[in-house]
Amino acid sequence: MTEKYFYLETFGCQMNVVDSEQMVEILQGLGYGQTDAAENADLILLNTCSIRAKAERKVYGHLGSFKPLKERNPNLILAVGGCVAQHEGERMLKKVPYLDFVFGTHNVHRLAELVQNAEAKLGRGLLVDFLDEEQRRQLFPARRPSREISRFVTIVQGCDNFCAYCIVPYVRGREVSRPSAEVLAEVRSLIDQGTAEITLVGQNVNSFGVKEGEEISFAELLRQVHDLPGLQRLRFITSHPKDLSDDLIECFGSLDKLCKHLHLPVQAGSDRILEAMGRGYSRDQYLNKVEQLRRACPEIRLTSDVIVGFPGEDEDDFEQTLDLLRRAQFAEIYSFIFSPREGTAAAELTDDTPAEIKQQRFDRMLALQEEITRRFHEEDVGKVLPVLVEGESRQGGGQLFGRTSWNRIVNFKADASLVGRIVPVRLIEAQRNSHIGVVESEGSAAS
Ligand code: SAH
Ligand code: SF4
Ligand code: F3S
Repeated sequence: MTEKYFYLETFGCQMNVVDSEQMVEILQGLGYGQTDAAENADLILLNTCSIRAKAERKVYGHLGSFKPLKERNPNLILAVGGCVAQHEGERMLKKVPYLDFVFGTHNVHRLAELVQNAEAKLGRGLLVDFLDEEQRRQLFPARRPSREISRFVTIVQGCDNFCAYCIVPYVRGREVSRPSAEVLAEVRSLIDQGTAEITLVGQNVNSFGVKEGEEISFAELLRQVHDLPGLQRLRFITSHPKDLSDDLIECFGSLDKLCKHLHLPVQAGSDRILEAMGRGYSRDQYLNKVEQLRRACPEIRLTSDVIVGFPGEDEDDFEQTLDLLRRAQFAEIYSFIFSPREGTAAAELTDDTPAEIKQQRFDRMLALQEEITRRFHEEDVGKVLPVLVEGESRQGGGQLFGRTSWNRIVNFKADASLVGRIVPVRLIEAQRNSHIGVVESEGSAAS
């Protein structure tokens, strides 16, 4: 029996993470084992993200680094999937002559034929057709359950919002939701296999089922998933502020397994820029939602995404963003300098802010947020918090890791038998991306 191996790298958001899980299943079905070493692989696959131009450029650079492997082993199959593949399509095959096949975001389920054609040396493959909404509703991946403690479950694919800067609706297509019965069935089967934490995912989960005329709202789906026996924790990502309903906000006060963390991307703090982005809310409306969330659940922690240097952003607009960060007190933000993306509305706008000014604004914003974030992290030292133990820590040394309800990673020494359980952990030191903790005796967790 010949052994063959694939090497898979995943970039981008939770949607790609879920797609990669499906790719792994398909490749295993073809007899491939997974390897962490590209140089040992018979098949190298990149699942790519095109949200910013830099991410896209990196893919080409990365493919270049595999060229020597391909020269050494002519049987090596090199392939690209994901959003760059969807967006670039045939251009990719032209630019990278040693690439075997390219497949888009709607064709993950057809990976097996592409691999088999490549194995049989039937020529280079290209599959980037868009499927219609009905076809895509049939294609929500029904994945094999695994023993992992924390799993993503897709409930919405694609996006209909067309924010002026964003490429996602073009690479992922129109929004489609999965029937709630199917979602509940998948969660049940994951729990049966030992999953403790479920994260419901979509680009905008708040509009779940609206188009489909689904009988239940996202808030109701959340309640039903929450009530499934055996589930320990529940999260969801991402929420669009314009669709964050009162009912959903109340869930943070009433559902005890729902983690006290919400990622609520604001993008900008100036009404003028929010309008130009087509976000559908004003800064006051956003800040009101924040206040409402804190009223429903005083311990909730919020995180956000912010774009700096959107076309037309002036100093005053930018100051408004800083002001919003001070008021909203996010625990963390993911900030980006605007990147014009081909085909989007914002790519057509006049953008006369010099790059150095954008960089300076970006640095100022980072400095402000770092101060806010550091305060949260320092304030948490000494607290005893419930942590869901997920597995061995990347830091090694026999440590385990888990996350707090706020989604903060904690590393600590403990027996592996705790994996899958929520245990009280005292935070003893704040590091940049995680805390160090010690497990407390049972029954002393505070929140
Ligand atoms: N669906 C999510 C966002 C997904 S993309 C939402 O609506 O919030 C993740 C983040 O990338 C966005 O929130 C935005 O901050 C950033 N982003 C998207 N397009 C961008 C662009 N063209 N330039 C810079 N940042 C961008
Ligand atoms: Fe992009 Fe806006 Fe859709 Fe988010 S809601 S994926 S930012 S278009
Ligand atoms: Fe990137 Fe595609 Fe997600 S562009 S952010 S991987 S939907």
